Amino acid sequence: MVTVAIIGCGRIANYAHLPALSKLDNVRIKYACDIIIEKANKAKIDFPKIEHTILDYHEALNDKEVDTVFVLVPNYEHKRISIDALRAGKNVLCEKPIALNYKDALEMQKEAQKANKILNIGVNNRFNAAVNKIKEYAQGGTLGNIYHVESHFFTTRSIPGLGGPFTTKEKSGGGVLIDWGVHLLDLVQYIVGHRNLKSVSASTKSVLAKNMKEYRYGNMWAEDTSDIEHGTNDVEEFVSCFARYDTYTLSFTGAWASNIPADEFYLDIFGSKAGVRLLFNKQTFKIFSSDTLEVKESDVPFENHYEIEDKMFIESVEKGQKNRGHIDEVIDVEQLIDLIYQSAEEEKEIRL
Ligand SMILES: NC(=O)c1ccc[n+]([C@@H]2O[C@H](COP(=O)([O-])OP(=O)(O)OC[C@H]3O[C@@H](n4cnc5c(N)ncnc54)[C@H](O)[C@@H]3O)[C@@H](O)[C@H]2O)c1
Repeated sequence: MVTVAIIGCGRIANYAHLPALSKLDNVRIKYACDIIIEKANKAKIDFPKIEHTILDYHEALNDKEVDTVFVLVPNYEHKRISIDALRAGKNVLCEKPIALNYKDALEMQKEAQKANKILNIGVNNRFNAAVNKIKEYAQGGTLGNIYHVESHFFTTRSIPGLGGPFTTKEKSGGGVLIDWGVHLLDLVQYIVGHRNLKSVSASTKSVLAKNMKEYRYGNMWAEDTSDIEHGTNDVEEFVSCFARYDTYTLSFTGAWASNIPADEFYLDIFGSKAGVRLLFNKQTFKIFSSDTLEVKESDVPFENHYEIEDKMFIESVEKGQKNRGHIDEVIDVEQLIDLIYQSAEEEKEIRL
């Protein structure tokens, strides 16, 4: 039996991890913690497996029965709470992005090594069947030589909680790149590998919400944390990047808000024998082969990847073995994000 504490009872706790952990017979949820205690209390009603609700996460860290914590708080709290938990001898699953920047991510990785505990990151897409099938194609030679990867992730209006923590750089680390782009870059790392990066050239922009009061939108997710009157928006809503690796190039463009006719989320992998388009939010893909000149639809089942992620994380804790969500497998993406921000800020290509 693995005894866990949930730290942060917001959106990702309620729609992903609490439902997933509630289904696992080998998991006890001893604590749900939130600085807004009503959110923890509400979670306890919705997920009766929760035994206690607490305001201060240290209470869970001081409890010897707790061996594992889920860090499900805004980005600026990832490092502090994860490191406190590792130092208290707990295993950790911390939501993405790892931290506000690469330097902080490295500190977290070092603490996990020192504590000899598991530190996983919330890279849920690595546990999705369509992604794993594409990885099999890429690594088994079905695609031939991969020479280009192209990623588009656009919505018309989806800036989260304008004026709140998501759009305040010191709390989020950045905008659409670190919030959504991190998922796509992580898939490139997982499927193809960010091997021998040679250069990065990028641009970031805030246009539609630059003046918060003039931003027009239909609805806004994370509206509970929005503060258009007095809050801050100093992050990008749009990012575009071009990176060169030894064997392939990566083109990567996305926006939380844009004046395009429809939302679009995909990752294209160009191979010499076949090419694949992953329809990111639908967990399906299409493959076009040079041999048949035909498009084949994916036939993998649609699964709840958060459930698989949490089940495998708990197994990893039980066995003391790292899995594909471990920080060691994921940390290169945080470095790439830093380079993209650096290139955008300096308005020049960064050569490595
Ligand atoms: N993997 C994914 O697909 C995915 C999806 C959404 C969010 N996330 C990540 O999950 C994290 C949380 O996002 P969210 O949308 O759930 O945010 P949220 O604002 O809905 O929830 C965060 C909760 O943490 C609480 N909190 C803040 N500081 C705390 C502290 N010191 N101790 C205890 N509780 C504290 C807040 O009161 C809030 O209830 C973010 O890092 C985000 O990037 C990941």
